[in-house]
Amino acid sequence: MVEPKEFIDESISYIKEEVDGEAMIALSGGVDSSVCAELSYRAIGEKLHPVFVNTGLMRKGEVEQIKQTFSHMNLEVVDAEDKFLEELEGVVDPEEKRNVVGELFIRTFEEIAKELDINYLIQGTIYPDRIESEGGIKSHHNVGGLPQIIDFEGIVEPVRNLYKDEVRKVARELDLPSQISERMPFPGPGLAVRIIGEVTPEKLDVLREANAIVEEELGNEPWQGFAALLGKATGVKGDQRVHGWIVSIRAVESRDGMTAKAMEIPWDQLKTIGDRIAREIDNVSRTVYDITDKPPATIEYE
Ligand code: XMP
Repeated sequence: MVEPKEFIDESISYIKEEVDGEAMIALSGGVDSSVCAELSYRAIGEKLHPVFVNTGLMRKGEVEQIKQTFSHMNLEVVDAEDKFLEELEGVVDPEEKRNVVGELFIRTFEEIAKELDINYLIQGTIYPDRIESEGGIKSHHNVGGLPQIIDFEGIVEPVRNLYKDEVRKVARELDLPSQISERMPFPGPGLAVRIIGEVTPEKLDVLREANAIVEEELGNEPWQGFAALLGKATGVKGDQRVHGWIVSIRAVESRDGMTAKAMEIPWDQLKTIGDRIAREIDNVSRTVYDITDKPPATIEYE
């Protein structure tokens, strides 16, 4: 990659050249789409319409943070939590879950696109997304789906040749807040792929709290560090036997997400995380640490 400063200048000229009118971008709050939104905002200003679809599958505090960070832009927030939950009811198959979230996301975005009547789409696709999608390992809903459904006049992918670490360098150079430039990758289908089985409001609440503890304790040290919800197991709280949730703690080191190593967290730190989750969240009975690399596991659970 060229120097971030040079990349920014080149991208701004490129976006100006490619977008002949108004453009929209699906903002996820992640570093890739945020960098693209900021580059595009610098290139076409108010002609950019960032759209944030609140799927209800985001982490604790994340929606508020996104609204705040992009408040200087023409941000359109679509609150679709109830719709996503409704369509996810009874869905247990991992690929079906991904498809339900992906399709509803596209339909929601499509409605906005029609309302706004915009011809250009800006996408935060990065290099590894394209490789994995082409390889067909898992369906990544943020790649490919939108353009097939909506007939955009042009699709612009400013960071399509960059790796994640390069996108972060650009984000720092753009002066984006560190919550964004250093933000861990977060999957498009959100917490849905960190819950085994059906997604329910109760599971989402437990997972949000558990994940916040993992992130608080690990900071930005791992490539990704998060909690997942596995199922239920028996435990004892006070002098009561309880049938509570099993939370898996996952922390991996990686360069681009294509392969990953389970992180060797010091025992004391790991124990603190596990104990806090079981103590602070009522209906959690057990915490486990996932020691699996990728391959053979994937980073996410579904
Ligand atoms: P896996 O679980 O396949 O994940 O090892 C590799 C990397 O990709 C992220 N991931 C996604 N990112 N949409 C995304 O934007 C998705 O559907 C998706 N699924 C997985 C995952 O968090 C990891 O960084």
